[in-house]
Amino acid sequence: MTSDLALIPAPLSVEDRGDTPGYVPLDERTTLDAGPGTESTARRLRSALGAATGFPFADGPGPGAIRLRVSEEVERRYGPEGYRLSTDGSIEDTAVLVEGGGPAGVFWGTQTLRQLLGPDAYRKAPVREGGWVLPRVTVEDGPRFGWRGLLLDVSRHFTPKDDVLRYLDLLAAHKLNVFHLHLTDDQGWRIEIKRHPRLTEVGSWRSRTKWGHRASPLWTETPYGGFYTQDDIREIVAYAAERHITVVPEIDLPGHSQAAIAAYPELGNTDVVDTTALTVWDTWGVNPNVLAPTEAVLRFYEGVFEEVLDLFPSTFVHVGGDECPKDQWKESPAAQTRIKELGLADEDELQSWFIRHFDRWLTDRGRRLIGWDEILQGGLAEGAAVSSWRGYGGGIAAATAGHDVVMCPEQQVYLDHRQAPGEDEPMPIGFVRTLEDVYRFEPVPPGLPPEAAAHILGTQANVWTEVMENRDRVDYQVFPRLAAFAEVAWSALPAPDARDYAGFERRMSTHYRRLDALGVDYRPPAGPHPRQQRPGVLGRPIEGAPPIV
Ligand code: ACM
Repeated sequence: MTSDLALIPAPLSVEDRGDTPGYVPLDERTTLDAGPGTESTARRLRSALGAATGFPFADGPGPGAIRLRVSEEVERRYGPEGYRLSTDGSIEDTAVLVEGGGPAGVFWGTQTLRQLLGPDAYRKAPVREGGWVLPRVTVEDGPRFGWRGLLLDVSRHFTPKDDVLRYLDLLAAHKLNVFHLHLTDDQGWRIEIKRHPRLTEVGSWRSRTKWGHRASPLWTETPYGGFYTQDDIREIVAYAAERHITVVPEIDLPGHSQAAIAAYPELGNTDVVDTTALTVWDTWGVNPNVLAPTEAVLRFYEGVFEEVLDLFPSTFVHVGGDECPKDQWKESPAAQTRIKELGLADEDELQSWFIRHFDRWLTDRGRRLIGWDEILQGGLAEGAAVSSWRGYGGGIAAATAGHDVVMCPEQQVYLDHRQAPGEDEPMPIGFVRTLEDVYRFEPVPPGLPPEAAAHILGTQANVWTEVMENRDRVDYQVFPRLAAFAEVAWSALPAPDARDYAGFERRMSTHYRRLDALGVDYRPPAGPHPRQQRPGVLGRPIEGAPPIV
């Protein structure tokens, strides 16, 4: 039954009401009856189904209503994000009853409702002969993990606000609930900070951009930039909240900071480099220009985070912490003096000093710090949570020590990595990770004791955009693999080897039609579309370039 309905991610259970055969019609008389706490979901549903069907879905109790309710009984069984969706005809005058454990559960239930209506439900005003009908079913469902995320790197290539909103809709359609926004890096600072205007005046623009892998000899010789104003950010956060998605901001420190240092040279290690000569970085890789370990730098970033906290209600705030080369601190007399003054053993402890400072600072303000697994170096800050990206190891160490973890190992869920071998794939970087590989990804490493496993908050897929210069390229890398990832994050799947990949592929044949209706430029199962094979984008070796490793 699940396979016929092609629900993705797969729900916990689907009961086919064979005793009440036939279909439940929706038509211009169908009303929308929103119980307390479900009003914003009703608005979203009216807008989506109204656009598809042309029906008004007027507010009201019926007859033949779609009813949305928050239910304590559903919460007890399936948690606040769980839901029960019934189209079984057993409740008088009701076409559809969506009961959620909380408002979020009702919202996820309506995403399932949309899938039950078929791919046309994702179009605006399709020509439809047979009317709109729902199969008679009862779906009971709830997520495996509370953190089901996607990271989008808007620094290496900028995603304009409207495209961010579109991604939030795509996340919602797949029941993903965390949007990790990677806002700053060496190649661009993308969020307006009112008290430090040069961060965007200077830090959001670079004069040219490496085309392809960092080993490529090619450049795009035009200025590149963009940033979100604080009003843009407020709009993104509100749009996400209406879809029960939390936006987790990331401000990277003490590494990945060249754009900030280009804007404010005093942030860098001025006794070892002429930071006034630095510009926003134009190529890729790990950058040596890191923040200086001074009180002034801490104050500067506290100012940044004050504005960030005003904009983002998320409990977790990401401070990066990855790929911070220690060479400048080793060479810098000022940094060495600082290490002695603070009684630290070495440069790793200096990195940890940065992170501990912001751990305390965020905790004092009712928030929690999360950082990449390098924040384990030199000792993990007391309240810190870890995004485990260099494999499972950092996550296992952190969870075993009682810290919360989000599993996002690059070997499995870095969607910038190519999804098939062969020279027809655009811009090959990293490992080949196919749709099936992602489907068989297991966020909880085998053998992790239950007390540690309880600290795995969930999982996220990461999209780094060095080789994705526009929305088509992002779509191509993200889809269809995000559909497999969503099922891993939401559904109660068996162990990787026992997963029914053939069944998933069958459901995907319908899901591709949903993605078509949504205008997603996914990688077709048969290989790249000719349009995606444009010159300069292919993975063929570039003449004169060193081999790509
Ligand atoms: C990362 O990929 N450097 C977190």
